Amino acid sequence: MDTRGGAALMPNPGAGPYDVAVVDRDPALRIRVTTQLGVEPSASVAALGDAVVAIAPHRPTVLIAGPGFANEHGLEQLHRLSMDRPEVGIVLTVPEITTEILQYALRAGVRDVIDLTDDAALRNAVERVGHLAAGLAARAGVAAGPVKKGKLVVSFSTKGGVGKSTVATNISVALARRSERPTCLVDCDLQFGDVAVLLSLPPKSTVVDAAAAIADDDPEFLKNLVIQHPPSGLQVLPAPVEPSAADQVRPEEMVAITQQLQQYCDFVVVDMPPHFDDVVLALIEIADVVLLIASMDIPSIKNLKVGMQTLDLLSIAGDKLRLVLNRANAKVKLDVKEVERALGLPAQYPIPSDIAVPQAVNRGIPVVLDKPGSPAARALEAAADSLMDEFYPPPENDEAADKKRRK
Ligand SMILES: Nc1ncnc2c1ncn2[C@@H]1O[C@H](COP(=O)(O)OP(=O)(O)O)[C@@H](O)[C@H]1O
Ligand SMILES: [Mg+2]
Repeated sequence: MDTRGGAALMPNPGAGPYDVAVVDRDPALRIRVTTQLGVEPSASVAALGDAVVAIAPHRPTVLIAGPGFANEHGLEQLHRLSMDRPEVGIVLTVPEITTEILQYALRAGVRDVIDLTDDAALRNAVERVGHLAAGLAARAGVAAGPVKKGKLVVSFSTKGGVGKSTVATNISVALARRSERPTCLVDCDLQFGDVAVLLSLPPKSTVVDAAAAIADDDPEFLKNLVIQHPPSGLQVLPAPVEPSAADQVRPEEMVAITQQLQQYCDFVVVDMPPHFDDVVLALIEIADVVLLIASMDIPSIKNLKVGMQTLDLLSIAGDKLRLVLNRANAKVKLDVKEVERALGLPAQYPIPSDIAVPQAVNRGIPVVLDKPGSPAARALEAAADSLMDEFYPPPENDEAADKKRRK
């Protein structure tokens, strides 16, 4: 079926780093999506079977599936495709994003779910998923090159109740959806860790078991200990259920656990306890990013400032520090500029205060999955996007730079 309408379409499927295919029973919808994107699809078909035939084997492709696939049978079909053809990244479009659809879709291997009416979101999703597919295909083509070590991100503050766990769980869920290799969340608040509760996961195995596996020098066993968070694909290593078990984990074991996980993950995110100890210091030292969480109240900022000075954080962590101002719009007005000046850091990731956060906590679902469009969810997604861009920029940037150089 010919979809060329009046829009200026990218002329040449097969020329870019990835192709785009559109599948939906409704031809008008397919044309609309094509026009929205300004990209000529390599295939525009009514049935998934036709798309499978039309998509060149091993060619990185973004498959945009229409709303007709947002049901049990449709998602089953998409799931099979995602398993059979890893070079195809699926974006599902729906009239309205609900938690249920989002969770089922992600479980079915769909890379993103987009509101049909949101042109910009669709374009962004296609670009992101396309580069992911291209990266996967390139990696599959290059047999066992040197493995790239994943990035270690720690969520830290000198105070409890400021949002460390909220930030750690949501950013890691968002990263798990974006990253090519797994993302793993480790709960290092060994006494009062609540990551398992925030994600509604049974703590079948915990950091204590992981420490034992490390002591036995058994990395494969460690891989088997991490618990899957089915809605997002995030891997999780919860804190022990008994606070007294905290003593059983030595700093060097915690460091070894995270380093072992970095071998096969793109990101390892660690939720930290609200105090300094040897484990915290060791992790801050080896981290690639230290998310410093502060809420917008004077005690929190003062605490953080004193903590930073005591630790001399600026000299041990320096440019790894990212200030996350949680509840940045809180009613008790503290001027963001003033906070930035006091801490000597720019407020890189402001997260608004949002009722959707405690509501999501009560449901045991991270807010980025529970209320994807809420202000807090958007801010947390933006922080994850920025980490992705920083550490895994889309390959297109290299190409564009290359082209410029050649000119
Ligand atoms: N941006 C926010 N808006 C509204 N409530 C929030 C926000 N961030 C955190 N909270 C709430 O604050 C409480 C403490 O957050 P939590 O992440 O557990 O802090 P910490 O891990 O630092 O102790 C939780 O009940 C959470 O729901
Ligand atoms: Mg916490």
